[in-house]
Amino acid sequence: LATTEVDVSQIQEGQAITVTWRGKPVFIRHRTADEIEEAESVPLSDLMDPETDEARVVNPSFLVMVGICTHLGCVPLGQRAGDPKGDFGGWFCPCHGSHYDTSGRIRRGPAPRNLDVPEYDFRDDTTIVIG
Ligand code: FES
Repeated sequence: LATTEVDVSQIQEGQAITVTWRGKPVFIRHRTADEIEEAESVPLSDLMDPETDEARVVNPSFLVMVGICTHLGCVPLGQRAGDPKGDFGGWFCPCHGSHYDTSGRIRRGPAPRNLDVPEYDFRDDTTIVIG
């Protein structure tokens, strides 16, 4: 399927799900107010791949990203309670130690780019169409 439709109404704040889109894992995280605040307050000069949080989301409450490390393609951790989230509160790739922040931006480690944001939109308040 070229597009994937996801009902996000059951994802509690602070939780995330992984869906598959074109054979790739896509993370959908319902961010907390603190996570959004953290993502929005980072100066671009602190970023290895400078990109505002605003440019990476449609609705700040939901972060949607391809769950593939931009280094060599492992799946970063940080989706489930108890997962290591790295030093910036987002995701951690255990393969070679890349740390991503609450916007999925690379902050430390060998990954060259932020986690990719797929093309997607909201069909209504709780339905995301990816692709
Ligand atoms: Fe993620 Fe190397 S594949 S750090």
